Amino acid sequence: MTKPPQSPPAPAANAMWGGRFTAGPDAIMQAINASIGFDRRLYAQDIQGSRAHAAMLAATGILTNKDAEAIGEGLLTVLSEIEAGTFRFRADLEDIHMNVEARLKELIGEPAGRLHTARSRNDQVAVDFRLWVRDQCDAAITGIEGLMRAFLAQADAGADWVMPGFTHLQTAQPVTWGHHMLAYVEMLSRDRSRFADARARMNECPLGAAALAGTSFPIDRHATAAALGFARPTANSLDSVSDRDFALEFLSAAGICAMHLSRFAEELVIWSSAQFRFVRLSDRWTTGSSIMPQKKNPDAAELLRAKLGRILGATVALFTVMKGLPLTYSKDMQEDKEQVFDAADTLMLALAAMTGMVGDMTANRDSLAAAAASGFSTATDLADWLVRALGLPFREAHHVTGTLVARAEALGIDLPGLTLAQMQAVHPGITEGVFTVLGVDNSVASRTSYGGTAPSQVRRQIARWKEVLA
Ligand code: ARG
Repeated sequence: MTKPPQSPPAPAANAMWGGRFTAGPDAIMQAINASIGFDRRLYAQDIQGSRAHAAMLAATGILTNKDAEAIGEGLLTVLSEIEAGTFRFRADLEDIHMNVEARLKELIGEPAGRLHTARSRNDQVAVDFRLWVRDQCDAAITGIEGLMRAFLAQADAGADWVMPGFTHLQTAQPVTWGHHMLAYVEMLSRDRSRFADARARMNECPLGAAALAGTSFPIDRHATAAALGFARPTANSLDSVSDRDFALEFLSAAGICAMHLSRFAEELVIWSSAQFRFVRLSDRWTTGSSIMPQKKNPDAAELLRAKLGRILGATVALFTVMKGLPLTYSKDMQEDKEQVFDAADTLMLALAAMTGMVGDMTANRDSLAAAAASGFSTATDLADWLVRALGLPFREAHHVTGTLVARAEALGIDLPGLTLAQMQAVHPGITEGVFTVLGVDNSVASRTSYGGTAPSQVRRQIARWKEVLA
């Protein structure tokens, strides 16, 4: 039988806020309340925010320069201790904010207690977390651009290689490899702009909102906003401490991006199979089977296909935390960080893995070409020819072509295998000229509409993207 958890005797009251308490928290209370196990990841942002705050307090005459300098220096010592791994994080100090401040007190004594003037942990955590998420937007943008370059290089190498284009995963029309690769460049560029937009929107500084109402001290919020690289301070103190939209936007952008990665991952799984052989994945991104010696499994692609699940899970979790919370701060919001940390880590790893895989993969030009020519892929070209050369209405051309496809299928051949006589038996007007449109190279070369799959169009887009990503 499992014993219920036993609480050891309660420790002394908290040194930071324990003035009205006679006893410390229950051990289980401490376990559920403490966030230091994960929010220690915010140490750099916490120290950065505190240094900006202290400098502003001195500039406005709220603190003496001497105290502010001692605080600023002391915080740098704390930073170096954390980075050296010598800092002792304490769960009884709950979170990163109080851990840092308590150590500052040990280092510099009394002035440490003046740092928290005109500030609350509510605006402190809001600014720390925003700074962190803002950095992650930048990291996501960098990662996405790397992946865009990998796709672009693939497009450049095979701008005119033909492959089947699919709808319903059924052969539809021949397209070019370059065109398919560039489709992902387009998706990723939207992902990139989503992170850029989210970054611009979150780039307002909540520091100085204090607990929720602002402060009676003559602080300069514009100064701290500028010092921390924000465009401006947030305009409503209540909103400042209760808003987590920026985290939700990050998660949403991450989810859409991961969805795109998942779609290409699925294509890789299909394309690398023995049945397709469109691409060969390098040994660096595949694994073997312990029983089947011939196997080369696309594990990285499979895992990438799955990663969206984690990110979506985090997104749903944070939406659920935030929904229905009355203004302003509630402790529920402490649950924001682990979700975002995990989603960000997942996205960065996924982008790096996909970039490596795309860079390493080799397209099998012959298999692509053979597949492009099969499955009556040029049937639309034939129908279009009937419209253009014979003046048939498209619906009739569609019907004639369908009949020809059925004939070819019955004979076990593809459209270019039919003789002129066999075609004329279906429609007497058909001439020799039809054969010019039945080949896949002609087919793709003819699709010159803007954004179409013709190599000429693809090369134009490649040139544009090279400029954008230069
Ligand atoms: N650890 C807390 C969090 O992550 C910091 C803010 C605490 N504020 C408070 N009023 N208890 O949300």
